[in-house]
Amino acid sequence: MSLTIKGISKKFVTKTKQTLTLDNINISFNDGEFICLLGPSGCGKSTLLNIIAGLEKPTEGKIFLNDKKVDDVGVDRAMMFQDSALFPWLKVIDNVEFGMKIAGVPKEERREKAIKYLRMVHLTKFQNSYIHELSGGMRQRVALARALTLDSKVLLMDEPFSALDSQTRSILQIQLQRIWMETKKTIIFVTHNVEEAVLLADRVVVMAANPGKIKGEFNIKLARPRTIENTDLSYIVAQVMKELKEEVEKVAKAEYDSDWSIEEGNILHDPDNNMGNGI
Ligand SMILES: Nc1ncnc2c1ncn2[C@@H]1O[C@H](COP(=O)(O)OP(=O)(O)OP(=O)(O)O)[C@@H](O)[C@H]1O
Ligand SMILES: [Mg+2]
Repeated sequence: MSLTIKGISKKFVTKTKQTLTLDNINISFNDGEFICLLGPSGCGKSTLLNIIAGLEKPTEGKIFLNDKKVDDVGVDRAMMFQDSALFPWLKVIDNVEFGMKIAGVPKEERREKAIKYLRMVHLTKFQNSYIHELSGGMRQRVALARALTLDSKVLLMDEPFSALDSQTRSILQIQLQRIWMETKKTIIFVTHNVEEAVLLADRVVVMAANPGKIKGEFNIKLARPRTIENTDLSYIVAQVMKELKEEVEKVAKAEYDSDWSIEEGNILHDPDNNMGNGI
């Protein structure tokens, strides 16, 4: 399903100030495309994803799915968050079935689908476990299975792997690449990690902050499945990082105290703006 974002702006108004978080965003995503969204903290990535999901209303602009205007939540778009947002008092299988239950899917069909997607994320053995018995990576896989059960054409993922250790993260990146190839969904994936973006995406979109705008795009034409060790991939990572670094520095300068200075290399390892390891 193709997705068109037309003239989206978002202004947040609080008692003390007005912030223009998104300023006239115009971009289209193709059916089945894997998009990664990068940008400095606060540039409006989550806000844009929430608007696409219908969880937040734009101040201006429209979202179209295959030329049909959407302005509310819908089963055509599923969302997955940084923390798995699972229910600790429910078993794994019941968590996976939850969205379908709300959507009124009959019990048998629900169970069948839940098992199918738990198999896809390799968790059938844990279907009767409770969430607190699972590791962080397993919880994110449960959340992914839950998001997949809705059979939505569009999957919106807001930093889904950022709380995970790097080994677990790379396993999930491989699984997600497989699932995407199998399901042919349009995926919009927000990350702070440039390597992750280049590894996964058909197209990497870089955003600028204050106000949030689209700064640049990179088409990634590398063959799949991809690995971090690929030298062509490292070359593209360096290019994207150059584009992003300027923006991250701009935001850091505005946010930090005036006696704080940006030293070469320092910014790349800022835990809040993880731009990939070792580069
Ligand atoms: N409900 C809200 N009310 C007021 N301001 C908000 C609200 N939600 C977001 N903002 C502001 O909008 C800006 C963008 O926030 P958003 O969470 O979309 O950024 P982000 O790019 O996802 O950042 P991060 O990378 O840290 O997750 C921030 O300045 C934030 O303070
Ligand atoms: Mg965010």
